Amino acid sequence: MSTSDAPTPRRVRVHHLQAAKDRGERLTMLTAYDAPTARIFDEAGIDMLLVGDSIGNTMHGHATTLPVTLDEIVVAARAVAGAVRRAFVVADLPFGTYEAGPEQALASAVRLMKETGVAAVKLEGGRRSVPQIRALTQAGIPVVAHLGYTPQSENALGGPRVQGRGAAAEEVSEDAVAVTDAGAVAIVLEMVPAPVAARITEVVRVPTIGIGAGPQCDGQVLVWVDMAGMGEWSPRFAKRFGEIGAALTSAARDYADEVRAGTFPAASHAFDA
Ligand code: KIV
Repeated sequence: MSTSDAPTPRRVRVHHLQAAKDRGERLTMLTAYDAPTARIFDEAGIDMLLVGDSIGNTMHGHATTLPVTLDEIVVAARAVAGAVRRAFVVADLPFGTYEAGPEQALASAVRLMKETGVAAVKLEGGRRSVPQIRALTQAGIPVVAHLGYTPQSENALGGPRVQGRGAAAEEVSEDAVAVTDAGAVAIVLEMVPAPVAARITEVVRVPTIGIGAGPQCDGQVLVWVDMAGMGEWSPRFAKRFGEIGAALTSAARDYADEVRAGTFPAASHAFDA
């Protein structure tokens, strides 16, 4: 989505997502889990920020997203939503907070909306999540659906594997149509073959946001630590646009060297009596 003709940030609203697709403008999305990174990404003009349950693997040291709680997402989402001026902020419904049915989904999503200031929630699943998407939509809560590889089901899916190859392509397409009909405002497509994602993008009305789903989606999302080179490793579908981890290591080493050498703090960093 272009920001060039808007000198003061105009908040990205749900209808702007659809308008971007209708105009053929690509949407940009990154994860964010705290205020400083959210502010940086917002100022960089990223359209959508996702307070993803990937906070579990990226920030909290878990092996999967499964242990992430609603309380943890609430704290992170409040920090992110409070820090941005323009971006459309979406928060994940973590594993165990919506699968039981529309009532559970509604209670979890209402809590997120009331306590954090996010603009939408995201949940995983296609046809199985239609009752939940419908209930949230009817309650006035925009829902982003998540199809393809869905990390909360990683035990059932056998780990991070491409979904929708061969005959399974039709399954993902049917899920995309179903979540759109239920009211989803956008669909994240994760680890779906590029031609399948392209076809879904053509067929569904709402924007598709790809991650490992090829270039034909209406937008792209990456986990920010993968995008910025914070960890030693990034998945094959994630390009490293920086080497923030290396920069941080170097800054920490320089700091330690100067403390040990007695050159930091200098007089300019100290207070007079
Ligand atoms: O939690 C997350 O970061 C996500 C992205 C992988 C889309 O769901």
